[in-house]
Amino acid sequence: MISGKNLHALSRLCVNVYGRTAKAILFFGLLVLCAIFIPPLSSAQSPAASTADRTTTKPFDSPGLEQKVNDLLQKMTLEEKIGQLVQYTGGLATGPTSGRTDDKDMIRKGQVGSLFNVTGSRETNALQKIAVENSRLHIPLIFGLDVIHGYRTIFPISLGLAASWEPSLVEKTARVAAQEASAGGVRWAFSPMVDISRDARWGRISEGAGEDPFLGSAIARAYVRGYQGEHLNAPDSIAACVKHFVGYGAAEGGRDYNSTEISEHTLRQYYLPPFHAAQEAGAATFMSAFNSLNGVPTSANPFTLKQILRNEWGFKGMVVSDWTSISELMAHGIALDGATAARKALRAGVDMDMTSNLYHSHLEQLVNSGQIPQSDLDEAVRRVLRVKFALGLFDHPYTDEKDESQTMLRSESVAIARAAAVHSLVLLRNEAVSGSPMLPLSANVSSIALVGPLADDARNMLGSWSALGRDQDAVSLRRALTEKLGASRLVYAKGGTILDSSDSDIAAAVQAAQKTSMTILALGEDSPTMTGEAASRAWLGLPGRQQELLEKVVATGKPVALVLFGGRPLTLPWAFEHVPAVLAAWFPGVQAGNAISDVLFGDAAPTGHLPLSWPRLAAQEPLYYNALNTGRPASDPEHPDVQGDAKYISRYIDAPNSPQFPFGFGLTYTTFRYGPTQADTKQVALTDLQKALADTGKHPTLVSVSAEIKNTGARAGSALAQLYIRLEGTSVAMPARMLQGFQKVALAAGESRKVTFELSADTFAFWGAENKFAVEPAHVTIWIAPNSAEGESTTLEITGTLQ
Ligand code: BGC
Repeated sequence: MISGKNLHALSRLCVNVYGRTAKAILFFGLLVLCAIFIPPLSSAQSPAASTADRTTTKPFDSPGLEQKVNDLLQKMTLEEKIGQLVQYTGGLATGPTSGRTDDKDMIRKGQVGSLFNVTGSRETNALQKIAVENSRLHIPLIFGLDVIHGYRTIFPISLGLAASWEPSLVEKTARVAAQEASAGGVRWAFSPMVDISRDARWGRISEGAGEDPFLGSAIARAYVRGYQGEHLNAPDSIAACVKHFVGYGAAEGGRDYNSTEISEHTLRQYYLPPFHAAQEAGAATFMSAFNSLNGVPTSANPFTLKQILRNEWGFKGMVVSDWTSISELMAHGIALDGATAARKALRAGVDMDMTSNLYHSHLEQLVNSGQIPQSDLDEAVRRVLRVKFALGLFDHPYTDEKDESQTMLRSESVAIARAAAVHSLVLLRNEAVSGSPMLPLSANVSSIALVGPLADDARNMLGSWSALGRDQDAVSLRRALTEKLGASRLVYAKGGTILDSSDSDIAAAVQAAQKTSMTILALGEDSPTMTGEAASRAWLGLPGRQQELLEKVVATGKPVALVLFGGRPLTLPWAFEHVPAVLAAWFPGVQAGNAISDVLFGDAAPTGHLPLSWPRLAAQEPLYYNALNTGRPASDPEHPDVQGDAKYISRYIDAPNSPQFPFGFGLTYTTFRYGPTQADTKQVALTDLQKALADTGKHPTLVSVSAEIKNTGARAGSALAQLYIRLEGTSVAMPARMLQGFQKVALAAGESRKVTFELSADTFAFWGAENKFAVEPAHVTIWIAPNSAEGESTTLEITGTLQ
């Protein structure tokens, strides 16, 4: 069923399947059988803009949709209803298999609602034909896939896309992904992953937008708009699936699948906002998560799935479980058998069972015995049908087979991939070498050594999820630099593999460095095995002997630029002290080499900024900028954090509190000076804020905040102005800083511009002690800053008293 044409995709899907099988075996013993160029840089994003974003297309509002759903529901037998709630992967059984015959027969009987990991218009059409032409009620299947950062045209990993801080660019990448996926018969992406993560040990930090809810919400909306387009029923639109609901990114110790303990305040204030933003942008589906949240697994959690998602937010779409997360309820310890697991999940609000096979096996008996009310079952079926109607699958169940190949890797899509990759790169360090910054390099350089296991590794450029991406589509750094410089000026030495190097590998690399005028080192992690799912790390240095390779190449005395590949920040204190230039490249996608070359040689300036705090050492994790001040902050003037008496403050005695690079940090090829932050008022009345919040329309501007930014360098460049606030005097402690706006500002050399942020009541609202989003009287500090650790602040007061 999986396209035989695509060996790469096949092998990845197999890794997926066998990885999960191992997991299932672990959980259930033997129950389971194996079965550019760059557009102008001025995309602005402010709180006001994000409020406006909320009014995107609502997929379920079309007249008559509810009627169609109800009419169909009335015709369905119990078996057919349950069938709509069953999802399998590519025809392979991965859950308890009792009751399974084969997919085709089950599809014919109306026992399957969805398949995933089946791709290609021919393959999906053939299965769709069985559902539409041979099943009694002709209900189409919905085909899903992990389209995470591209389908065939692979973009930078999601963390890299977030580092662009450009929602409009992210939206473009998701649009391309939607066009390609839908051409391949896939109308449902298991994306965006909007889990907030504060811990770089967690391998899946690579799949999200980092640690901040404001940035994460803007990016979440962008994905939804890109996937679902103007109208979800357009043939090139696909349903988004917002995952993993919720709290998965807070896995204790950064260990994947681990439990989470998150207070309601923290959940509402930090973890839920990107989910809510995606839902408000019209996301058609959600995926429940693997983790338990405060003791209740999130795939059987009525508080999050029913109270918050359905009742408070009014979500009308469907929730699919994560892979076997329903059967995992037994391992969690809240179900002794499969029937109980199925009952708990369905009753909590999980509509579709991804691969556990427990809905198929037990729902009939559970409904017949009254353990699941008919109304609960009907509600779940209604939600699945609603999504299928909204996608237009009943009217257009098939994919046009002749369009498929010409939709893939179009030149416009590849251009977007190159721009996205350029914008994802974050310049972390650029020290002077012989009087001027190491980067950009001159294209006239006499010779360059290109060293490192990731220098000529097309596969790794694609990241841990790469859907139908192919290695041969990806441009490695070696290929791009050979084209740029000509083979004669480039000396390549691999220096070993990611996990191991021999002495002679290292010696050859050192020799290459010695005989050329400078070295570009391409080091880092292996994307499929060290980043993404089930790839948590306790130690965040360079794997293998890469640190030694780095130090020996630097010891040659020749200038070195380090291009660092990874799905997370790596703790490299030595490099950040000794290597003149360091570029965080994440995994940049099919245009990796070209984009990196563009930035190294200054054909494009770096514009990326960190969407997370970059730790100095893993022991600092969880590390996030929007932390509470504590009662004894290290910065407290009463307790100076210099050597001496500063003992009783919140700090480590053997490491700094501060990150290596703060959230929001990123250098470029010019410098900026930020003037003082100024607000057009010093006081806002609490009642005005309350009145504005109570209004469901667009909230008016109540305060304008501005700062002058000057490009103080000799080149044009883009500054990322970030707006942070702190609230004090409130009913609950709020972070020492929190992001509430950002804008990219293009400035010519020497140019100054005033940047203004229009703040509305939303900026000041938070989840307070009364268990609601509200405003309170407060002393407010406001910064317009180049990152979360700098900037000159101003203050204002929210005056009044709470009733
Ligand atoms: C992952 C999900 C993914 C699903 C389907 C799970 O293991 O957690 O993110 O969408 O598999 O492949």
